[in-house]
Parts: sequence; structure tokens; C-alpha cells
Amino acid sequence: MAPEVSYAGAVPSWHRQRYAQFFTPPKIARLMAEWALAGGARTLLDPAVGMGVLARAALARASNLQVTAIEKDSVILRAFLGTKPDFSRVEVILGDFLTMEFCSTFDAVLMNPPYLRHHDLSYDFDIFAEFSRKYGVQLSKLSNSYLLFTLKAAAMLNLGGRAAIIIPTEWMNANFGSAMKLFLIERGLLKEMIYFSNCSEIFDDALTTACVLLLENSAP
Ligand SMILES: C[S@@+](CC[C@H](N)C(=O)[O-])C[C@H]1O[C@@H](n2cnc3c(N)ncnc32)[C@H](O)[C@@H]1O
Repeated sequence: MAPEVSYAGAVPSWHRQRYAQFFTPPKIARLMAEWALAGGARTLLDPAVGMGVLARAALARASNLQVTAIEKDSVILRAFLGTKPDFSRVEVILGDFLTMEFCSTFDAVLMNPPYLRHHDLSYDFDIFAEFSRKYGVQLSKLSNSYLLFTLKAAAMLNLGGRAAIIIPTEWMNANFGSAMKLFLIERGLLKEMIYFSNCSEIFDDALTTACVLLLENSAP
């Protein structure tokens, strides 16, 4: 049984919902890894690793890859560590990706961020104002967490670096999505997008729309 399936069976759904823990189907994870690693990436960031579906797909594809995996919830992180990832290739960090400082950027990003509504985000500072200032956009206070994750992760790509990010599609038709559209267009990041039909049920355990953003930092 896949580790994420055992985890979902063992942990109460209220806990999983609190952290928005649902998992990328392996088939989609492989497709995302194919895009992100096509340029021969040596370093990869997974900002919300969960049970490691994306990290596993990446490690299986590239033998010389170093993965940095971030996770906020110690419960799922312990379960992920129990799967014994190859620690010579995976650095695991417990923390909040949105507030964490990094001293390096990455050749690739694979991400399925938490989808949490603005009123489920609790920070003792105005995270929307801070991200607006940092990334040069005017973020709405109604933005979902996946927008914050996408801005920060996309800004952490090395030149020539690639990212594959699976998120819902609502940002495309909502006012709160305009800041992200501007960010992606102005930086020339968005190369392709896979848009799943609303009729297809992508996730086993969550009813959500889905698209995969395929990004590349090709700016001179
Ligand atoms: C949608 S799940 C995706 C898990 C895995 N990447 C996958 O694709 O199957 C999002 C993960 O992000 C974690 N998470 C939630 N808030 C976070 C934060 N602020 N920083 C880092 N991880 C976070 C959740 O606990 C959860 O494991």
C-alpha cells in the first residue's frame, strides 16, 4: 500500500483537513517530475512534502538529485520519515514554508501546496501585505494559501529552473487571482498549463478543481 494511503487511513480526517493534507496521484506526480527535471536539475525544492509523493517521483527520475523537503505538520513529517527516504539525497525540514528564510535557490520545484482559505490562515502579521511588497503585486486579503505558496516557490527558481505546481483553478476566474496572473506574465514564467476538466476527479479524497502550472525561469 502506498504510504500516503496508509497515512490517510490512520490519521483522523479533521487533522488532515486542518493542514489540507491530500495527496498527488502518482501518475500526475510522474508527469510533473518529467517537466521539472527535463533540464537536468541537481537541486529540487518540495515546499509542502506531506508523505513525499512528489519527492519520490523526482528521486526515481534523477539519480544525482538533492531534494529539500519542507513540512509544517510534525505528525505527517514523522510518518514521512518512517518511509525511510534516502537521507543522503533528501534534506527534511520541519517548518512553515511561508515564513521560512532560505539562503539558496533551486533548479526545480515540485509542489502541491495546501489549499487553505484566507480565514484559515493565522499569522501575527499581515502576510498578504508582506508578500505584496516582496513580490511586487497587490495581493487580495481573500487569497487562498496556494497563491502565497506559488509566488514564493516560483521566485525561488534558479535561472533556467523549472517548476510544476498543482493547484485548483479558481484563481483564474476570481478577482483574487489577478495578482498571480500579473506575477506569472510579467516574469514570463508560465510556459504551459494542464487544465483538468471539472468532471474529472483528480484526487481520491478531495473534491477540488485542478490544474498543473508548468513554469520556467527563462528571464535573462
Ligand atoms: C496538499 S498536501 C500535498 C502533500 C504532497 N506534496 C503531495 O503532493 O502529495 C499539502 C501539505 O502541506 C503541508 N503544509 C500545510 N501548511 C504548510 C506550510 N505553511 N508550510 C509547509 N507545509 C505545509 C500539509 O501538512 C500537507 O502535508
